Amino acid sequence: MPALGNKLYFNFGGQGPLPSPSLAAISASFATIQELGPFSDAVWPYVNRTVSGLRQRLAAWFGVVPERVAFTENVTSGCVLPLWGLPWEPGDELLVGDAEHYGVVAALEELARRHQLRITSLAVADLTGDAAATAAAVSERLEAALSPRTRLVVLSHLLWNTGQTMPIAAVAAQLAGHARHPWLLVDAAQSLGSLPVAEAAAAADIYACTGHKWCCGPEGLGAVALSERLLEVSSPTLIGWRTLEHDGPGAGGYHRDARRFEVATSCTPLFAGLNQSLQLLEAEGDAHGRLAAIRKRSGQLWEGLQRMPGLHTLLEVPPPAGLVSFTMADAKGVPLDPAAVVKQLGDRGTWLRTLESPRCLRACTHLVSTADEVERLLTQLAELIQLSAG
Ligand SMILES: Cc1ncc(COP(=O)(O)O)c(C=O)c1O
Repeated sequence: MPALGNKLYFNFGGQGPLPSPSLAAISASFATIQELGPFSDAVWPYVNRTVSGLRQRLAAWFGVVPERVAFTENVTSGCVLPLWGLPWEPGDELLVGDAEHYGVVAALEELARRHQLRITSLAVADLTGDAAATAAAVSERLEAALSPRTRLVVLSHLLWNTGQTMPIAAVAAQLAGHARHPWLLVDAAQSLGSLPVAEAAAAADIYACTGHKWCCGPEGLGAVALSERLLEVSSPTLIGWRTLEHDGPGAGGYHRDARRFEVATSCTPLFAGLNQSLQLLEAEGDAHGRLAAIRKRSGQLWEGLQRMPGLHTLLEVPPPAGLVSFTMADAKGVPLDPAAVVKQLGDRGTWLRTLESPRCLRACTHLVSTADEVERLLTQLAELIQLSAG
């Protein structure tokens, strides 16, 4: 990963660095396309093989058949495209977790405005304890929040702000027992490439991912796993030639499978790049083994932060994945401005990010994070606190 050669990098939840073999796969794919085409009968088998190979690989990660996987550009379009294709009725309620990404929330608000839907909130941002306590609280609060009008529940698999995981498969089972069986939309921005996703992806109606965060693929390519019941009743949202079952003018109907949410020309080399990044992850062990390695480093960081006066982690327990969010205060207990801390660390070649709600810092650890890098981050944070004391 050339990006890691000259910095301490803790922003995997923002964007993962691209491994050299993935960059090489992208370049090689561009070269192949030029050699065979770019627009020729000779190139289409290569393009189709590249796209369907990645669809099969992702389907295996999701634990679903390839027909349930659509390619998108990013997480947000994986949420938005199927949402706009559902048969809404005025008065339907959307129950939205209070730790969702503002981009997805904005899209839900516009959907609600245009279809006269009502948005209600499910509190999960305050769940900072262990997995069992979190699962129990989510189940209890969900039961209390569901109404006969609830038509959709929106939750992330791994909350981007607190770093807490949501019990998605259990939520799906709970919704299945509800009279109206609301749709379950899962924002999987932080989970694909960091958590085992098969159980959750197979259980959700919309499980929307991107390749450019924890998968360490190129930016500009995402995927969404869709449930069979959603595919049965949804209509395509943006229609183009890839939406159609048969190519050519007057060819008629839309794909019955998830490709009904695909639109038109995409950048095939990105598919080659993401496929390579996923293979590199697979070579590191199975999803549970990889998560254990990620947690080893996030746990080390979390433990180190507990020992530092002035540091306060959002989670009360070692993180269930690779996201560690925290606040900082100086020796007198005065909060340090997260943006200033990010700038000071950036000046030292160390990268993490601020979050707005709650206002804090977030550092991510991935498989490539080393014990030494985590120790160096902890040392730098301690230095900043000392400097702030004067
Ligand atoms: C939880 C969550 N949802 C959505 C997004 C937006 O991702 P994208 O740009 O791939 O749509 C992000 C990006 O940080 C995120 O963390």
